[in-house]
Amino acid sequence: MIGRHANLWQPICSKQTLESGQFVEFSLAATELNVDTLPLTGFAFLDGTTPKAYLNKCPHMGVELNWMPGRFMDTDNLFLQCSTHGALFKPRDGECIAGPCQGDALTALDIREAGDSLEVRLPE
Ligand code: FES
Repeated sequence: MIGRHANLWQPICSKQTLESGQFVEFSLAATELNVDTLPLTGFAFLDGTTPKAYLNKCPHMGVELNWMPGRFMDTDNLFLQCSTHGALFKPRDGECIAGPCQGDALTALDIREAGDSLEVRLPE
């Protein structure tokens, strides 16, 4: 059951911080979903001009996608890539199009502008 804190919006950065090609990483505030487990982390970026955010959690084994801060793209700069086994994900919807979790998808977070900030929350 999702707790009452699960869907609170939380600020992650200013709008100006999220520039094209940049990734912002963040931790989600503790919720009943992640108490007693590893903290949930996520990342945000611009897909064109649209902000996107996903949990930083590969659907294959649950590990974080990146092994270096801010590095999420494949060498062709077309797809999000898991650094553990190389799964590729479409930036627009998080669908895995190659790798051991093909057909699965990253968990998208809700993201919105609030004043000068960007805020995220777990999906309802
Ligand atoms: S853990 Fe991500 S592809 Fe295996």
